[in-house]
Amino acid sequence: MIKIDINNVLNFVQKDDIISYESEIHKHYKALFNKTGKGNDFLGWINLPKEMLESDIISDIQATAKKLQEKSEIFVVIGIGGSYLGARAVIEALQDSFSQYKENSAPQIIYAGQNISEDYLSELMEMLDEKDYSVTVISKSGTTTEPALAFRLIKQHLENKYGKQEASERIVAITDKEKGALKKLSDEQGYKTFVVPDDVGGRYSVLTPVGLLPIAIAGFDIKKLVEGALKMQEFAATEHPITEDPIALYAATRNSLYQTGKHIEIMVNYQPKLQYFTEWWKQLYGESEGKQQKGIFPAGVNFTTDLHSMGQYVQEGLRILFETVVTIEKPNRELTVPKDELNLDGLNYLSGKPIDEVNKKAELATVLAHVDGGVPNIRISIPELNEFYIGEMIYFYEMACAISGYILDVNPFDQPGVEAYKKNMFALLGKPGFEKETEEIQKRIS
Ligand code: PA5
Repeated sequence: MIKIDINNVLNFVQKDDIISYESEIHKHYKALFNKTGKGNDFLGWINLPKEMLESDIISDIQATAKKLQEKSEIFVVIGIGGSYLGARAVIEALQDSFSQYKENSAPQIIYAGQNISEDYLSELMEMLDEKDYSVTVISKSGTTTEPALAFRLIKQHLENKYGKQEASERIVAITDKEKGALKKLSDEQGYKTFVVPDDVGGRYSVLTPVGLLPIAIAGFDIKKLVEGALKMQEFAATEHPITEDPIALYAATRNSLYQTGKHIEIMVNYQPKLQYFTEWWKQLYGESEGKQQKGIFPAGVNFTTDLHSMGQYVQEGLRILFETVVTIEKPNRELTVPKDELNLDGLNYLSGKPIDEVNKKAELATVLAHVDGGVPNIRISIPELNEFYIGEMIYFYEMACAISGYILDVNPFDQPGVEAYKKNMFALLGKPGFEKETEEIQKRIS
């Protein structure tokens, strides 16, 4: 199971301060499981692993994935925020780093609908001219501009390429069970659909079809992923002393650090495959906690890469940072440093050592340096990078996020701040229904 090590924060906060969160956290667990706390209409994610494994949704997803795999070299995932980050986080963590250059049994997954770049979309469709592909469009609300725009383009491209009937068989929509433009369009066009449950918010939706369909199409075992999450769900459902509960310890430690002025948490990985896991975590924590002028700012770095760009700031910049390192204990592959007769690079002292040993020493060296420089360090580790442990991590971070939000006394399940830019954008674009806002914004910018 996931392990947490907080020894490298104890120069900065007292262990007793962290432990003192125990009774409060037990209260928050109860509020979450009994659905009595803030945002309690968005707690569907709590029992999701168990519910998914007991339902026939997983087999429906697997059957749909199989059909689409057979007819696609490329699979396009259209969505933004919580409607794509979870899938991308899991797929990139599990897939070969160079899969696009190798023979694969599963389609290559690519992403659209997370930007409004004319170049990106145009280059994407140019590439799709040459490939057999299918697509899923994912939007809980069914009305988000970025994915709607990308889908309009790709739908037309598909219809021109394959004809309307075949196009509709290459499209899967994942949306609300009854509301929104995407649901209406899907019903009219006869697309296969999956439902985003009402009580699961976007950033908590990776274990629904939102994440599971793209992950299955990429060729990964979604049942194992959900089983890993279930293990964590069952753990969380039973009361444990805080010292034996990694979820509680993580929530308590980061909040203790926040109270001492450590306002930025940097998620650190030493494994490039985890870059998008960090992106998923950033959204989960940023959108859940950043409200009412409160919250830890979630940032991310990829080490050792970013030690050569961000390392200077972490070591010596403003002392408002702490790091949470996510470590994979054992790599999936084996490669050792070769011996070189000439040894002109001076690396023979490493010959015969696994590359991962060098990486782990880099990690330890960095932790010691950063702690010396005033940056506390939480270490979270999983045994290996596979579906089961990623499932555990997903549930671990979701539950710790909910508890952290309750400690901060905010609603971790809403995101009212996201609407501000949308209102301005619709006003600037002259969207019907926004006439008054258009008039006001034009005065402001003229
Ligand atoms: O977590 C969230 O709620 C958001 O990030 C949404 O997932 C994102 O805005 C996309 O929304 P929708 O799925 O409605 O298109």
